[in-house]
Amino acid sequence: MEPGRNSFFALNLETCGYHQDTASDPIILSSPNPHIILSSHHSVLQTNIILLCVSLISFYKPCPMQLEDIQHLTDTAVADIAAAADETALEAARVRYLGRKGKLPDIMAALKTAAPEQRPQYGQAANQFKTRVGEALDARKSALAATATPANALDVTRPGDLPPLGSIHPIRQIIGRVTEIFDRIGFTVATGPDIDSVFNNFDALNTPADHPSRDPQDTFYLEDGSLLRCHTSPVQVRHMLKHPPPVRIIAPGRAYRRDTPDATHSANFHQVEGLYVDKKVSMADLKSDLTYFAGEVLGPGAKARFRPHFFPFTEPSVEVDFTCHVCKGKGCRVCKNSGWIEIAGAGMVDPNVFQAVNYDPDAVTGYAFGMGLERIAMILLEIDDIRRLYDNDVRFLRQFA
Ligand code: DAH
Repeated sequence: MEPGRNSFFALNLETCGYHQDTASDPIILSSPNPHIILSSHHSVLQTNIILLCVSLISFYKPCPMQLEDIQHLTDTAVADIAAAADETALEAARVRYLGRKGKLPDIMAALKTAAPEQRPQYGQAANQFKTRVGEALDARKSALAATATPANALDVTRPGDLPPLGSIHPIRQIIGRVTEIFDRIGFTVATGPDIDSVFNNFDALNTPADHPSRDPQDTFYLEDGSLLRCHTSPVQVRHMLKHPPPVRIIAPGRAYRRDTPDATHSANFHQVEGLYVDKKVSMADLKSDLTYFAGEVLGPGAKARFRPHFFPFTEPSVEVDFTCHVCKGKGCRVCKNSGWIEIAGAGMVDPNVFQAVNYDPDAVTGYAFGMGLERIAMILLEIDDIRRLYDNDVRFLRQFA
């Protein structure tokens, strides 16, 4: 290769860090970029073209910014910033114009290279750029902050938060169902307090002074001599003392006994009392009404069975069984192979009870009954342990919502 022909390129290349090892072949160009190694196998023309390109690239220096460019850039930047849609876009614009790799360093470079007589104008333009861009950033920031929803703002169009909803307790559901059934045959609901008197709970109900249920080991007595009613029967007394016959009521509510809790016993439980007093109310009414109730609450085909029993407040007295809902009377584990489930105590109101409430036992007769509501709930909802009704585990109770 003739050194003279390539001297122009060699000169140019030298200025940008390349050098020619020898004036003769092969030309080895060492460059900061190790990939640019030109071998002598190229034709002279090829080599010349490549060298021309390399020298042009290395001689390219971006033109420093002119004064008008800075002014124009300032206007563009201000408009750009004013259009930033949100905080993120605004920050991106700040970096674009004032950041280390943004436009400001270019402007400062132009200031440095400007002719000395033009420097004051460049300086002024650079300052204006900084001031106007800074102001635009501040203005946009406040504008965005003003339109942003304050943290504690009330958005009346937002759908409300649903409060966690409870569900009706299984016992309340059963009370509702029982009440609704008796309502259909003319019974209204009467209530009484959980704390009652010995008179209402025992005396007026013809309970002998030595009856075991009066024992403090069975009934909770309070210091003032009152007690936690051990059945809902005192509501009969309260109601009859206030209302002349005829009477046709049910009284659902809580009762308390000193029972040790187990799968079928709880120290507090629920009963529904029933009382029907009128002229010529008979055992046939009791049987037909409770048979109707059995069919309504347990489904068609359920029957009621009446077995002789004793209660102080009824004469005669019976215990009432309903057809076992599980085996439909065939006999299974639940009904202990009897086909029946014990549901209530009942009977014809004892004349002594009428006397205690100032009713004339010769003018009226009546029937009464008392049923355990947990028993009915456990049968209908297939609950195997009475304590589950009082554990208040919402995961369990919600199943019956
Ligand atoms: N009070 C009784 C009990 O708790 C149930 C009862 C039986 C209520 C006969 C009555 C009735 O009204 O006549 O075991």
